Amino acid sequence: MKEEITITVKDLDGNIHQLICPLEMGLSLKDICKAYELPMEAMCGGMAMCAICHCYILSKASALPEKGDIEEALLSELFTTSASSRLACQIQITAAMDGLSLEIAPN
Ligand code: FES
Repeated sequence: MKEEITITVKDLDGNIHQLICPLEMGLSLKDICKAYELPMEAMCGGMAMCAICHCYILSKASALPEKGDIEEALLSELFTTSASSRLACQIQITAAMDGLSLEIAPN
């Protein structure tokens, strides 16, 4: 059993960060980005209300859980939403996401 996975995050300046994510702690993608001091200072505390954690999934989208209604509703209100948009606070990290790559979206 894997204990950690690696994901790749592109920030708003185009810099690429490799994040090592422990699996056993029940973290969301937003939590791990914040732990690495990427700009995801969640104003809503991960409640799918602020959209600070809006990101575009660049690869491995199939490893992610389906969007929930609240996530869908908030994304539909943003001007920068695309087909690959997700809210990082709504995605719990799992082993299937090893190698995931995402880009922080401008809001
Ligand atoms: S952290 Fe606020 S919507 Fe995700």
